[in-house]
Amino acid sequence: MDTAAIDTLIGQARETLAAAADAAALANAKARYLGRDGELTRRMKELGKAAPAERAAQGKRLNEVKQAIEALVAEREAQIERALLAERLAQEAIDVTLPGRGTGRGGLHPITLTIERVEEIFRSIGFDVADGPEIEEDFFNFTALNTPENHPARSMHDTFYVEGGLLLRTHTSPMQIRYARLHQPPIRVIAPGKTYRVDSDATHSPMFHQVEGLWVDEGVSLADLKNVYTDFVAQFFERDDIEVRFRPSYFPFTEPSAEIDIRFPDGPLAGRWLEVCGSGQVHPNVIRNIGLDPERYVGFAFGSGIERLAMLRYGVGDLRQFYENDLRFLQQFAR
Ligand code: PHE
Repeated sequence: MDTAAIDTLIGQARETLAAAADAAALANAKARYLGRDGELTRRMKELGKAAPAERAAQGKRLNEVKQAIEALVAEREAQIERALLAERLAQEAIDVTLPGRGTGRGGLHPITLTIERVEEIFRSIGFDVADGPEIEEDFFNFTALNTPENHPARSMHDTFYVEGGLLLRTHTSPMQIRYARLHQPPIRVIAPGKTYRVDSDATHSPMFHQVEGLWVDEGVSLADLKNVYTDFVAQFFERDDIEVRFRPSYFPFTEPSAEIDIRFPDGPLAGRWLEVCGSGQVHPNVIRNIGLDPERYVGFAFGSGIERLAMLRYGVGDLRQFYENDLRFLQQFAR
């Protein structure tokens, strides 16, 4: 190999390496010269065929070429690395002069706001606020509430049963029993919370909220129930021109029972009776189950859907909006 051939080879190598744009291309280019089947390796192998007198000189030259190419590879490698770093730094640069993103303020969920509002109103007229377990015993959810063994609400189509004979409470009424067993009359309590039923569409959610009300004492009557709930409606909706009507109904735990409907004089729902509450006089069996004498104590109970109240108050058309966590919806309630 003469000097001209060597120069040509090194010149070619330099061009090939310079054209390699990234680490992978560079590795390929390097293999073309220094790899097992590479240009230089091939020539090294051919050394054996050279005349013995020239072999040493030829070998020395080839070694120099090899070193020269290795140096070129190292140089190109460093170049590529520097370019990569520069590119990354440019990409990751933070423009400290840009305005900040700011911190968004959260707000309470409309259901929470509604519960707080209901609690505030009932506290102001002397009701206590109680709480109870969402995973409930059959006894408190059904049996103590005078619900017979074969009542449809007990079926798997309506109730979520969990392990150990427990269930997800289907209404807030079990809290009546729990609270009343621990307190002496006069008992005046509301109990808001989550409830669960096997049900799901635009107006039913498998999880929803209710607020239970209970007033037990000597001489409490349905007139008191009517007064309390009518007053609540006026305060909750902040207007006293809403009509309230009691419509006969049936619940195992109340007798007589009534569905409470309300009617707005104006607005999109004007003139339509809207059901907002189940209620009634506490059944003597239930009074007995909370450890009191039904000959002496009477009371009334009611249960309202919180979502229903919130939908009416805020004009929300679809129950599911409360659970979709769409910030555009939720932000309207932030204060
Ligand atoms: N628990 C009943 C329901 O979920 C409502 C109710 C409560 C009715 C208290 C009467 C008395 O539908």
